[in-house]
Amino acid sequence: MKRYKTIFSSFHAIYRLITASGNIKNFSAGICRIFKSAFGADRIVMVCKNVDSYGFMKVRLEDKRQHVKKGGQSILTSREKDILSQEKEITLGNRLIYTFNFVDTLGAIYIKRRSKKEAFNELERRWFLSLCEEVSIGLKIFILYREEKKIIIGYIKSLTKLLDQYVPTSYLHIKSIFRIIRTLGKALKLSESEIKSLEYAALLHDTGKIQLPSGILKKEKPLTDEEFKLIMKHPRKGVEMIKNLDILRPALPIILHHHERYDGKGYPSKLKKEQIPLGARILSVIDAFDAMYFGRPYKKRRRLKEIERELKKQTGKQFDPKVVETFLKIMQRKDMRKYLRSFL
Ligand SMILES: [Fe+2]
Repeated sequence: MKRYKTIFSSFHAIYRLITASGNIKNFSAGICRIFKSAFGADRIVMVCKNVDSYGFMKVRLEDKRQHVKKGGQSILTSREKDILSQEKEITLGNRLIYTFNFVDTLGAIYIKRRSKKEAFNELERRWFLSLCEEVSIGLKIFILYREEKKIIIGYIKSLTKLLDQYVPTSYLHIKSIFRIIRTLGKALKLSESEIKSLEYAALLHDTGKIQLPSGILKKEKPLTDEEFKLIMKHPRKGVEMIKNLDILRPALPIILHHHERYDGKGYPSKLKKEQIPLGARILSVIDAFDAMYFGRPYKKRRRLKEIERELKKQTGKQFDPKVVETFLKIMQRKDMRKYLRSFL
């Protein structure tokens, strides 16, 4: 009875891992732990192929120690290379091996009991196979999710390229700005996924300008009230354009509110202080910094000292004091200054 309980809970544990794991490393490490305790194995090795930007990832669990290796073919032993090319299940007494397949080989798992006397029985072999089929589904989900992400990133890139051609004045110096966003986001305790959304928002915050008459965007004289009313529509128009892409959903409030002001005098919703999403308060400072530091076709670039004065002047008016304070602290760092200079 106890055995059946263990079997049932191992399926459930894998299902939970599939639905909860955010990355392939945690997923594989979790799988190894489940297999180790379910089968009383002494050594578990799971290899995943092409799951991220690197070629292979290998998780090895042995004597309670976990080892993770990422890299090319060189991280694999010749036996592991051989297993990956077999594309079939192998039972060898005290060893069970399974190759995960989906169009191509996705990876393999290998479990072993130290003593040759402890061979796996038929029930364990079948149980192992069923669990591996479940793991295989998990790996396929990771692959499909990655493919979807690639398509979306490609879409974002072409959209920003188009945006850059049509609205050059709103272009952020992405390469340099991304490192600042990341550092600032971490300092303000944003999670990894919140930082990612902030990066997407930074890329796409002015997408809505594509729908405005180009005459207004290129105008060098001051805008009339009517023209400014049109400009004020760009955050909403931008959100309308990308709102159906799931991956961008968390970036939408940032895009919608990137022109709000801390004192409530911004647009489109006249939000105040903490009513404005934190991402939008951050992007507002980053956007202003970018315009001042790198300049715009109609504005000369400014020195860091002047920028610091301007940001301080606008603290509590246009910008969130906490964001400005953290941002200025980061700007004091030698490595950040050296980094920024490298882009001029
Ligand atoms: Fe904007």
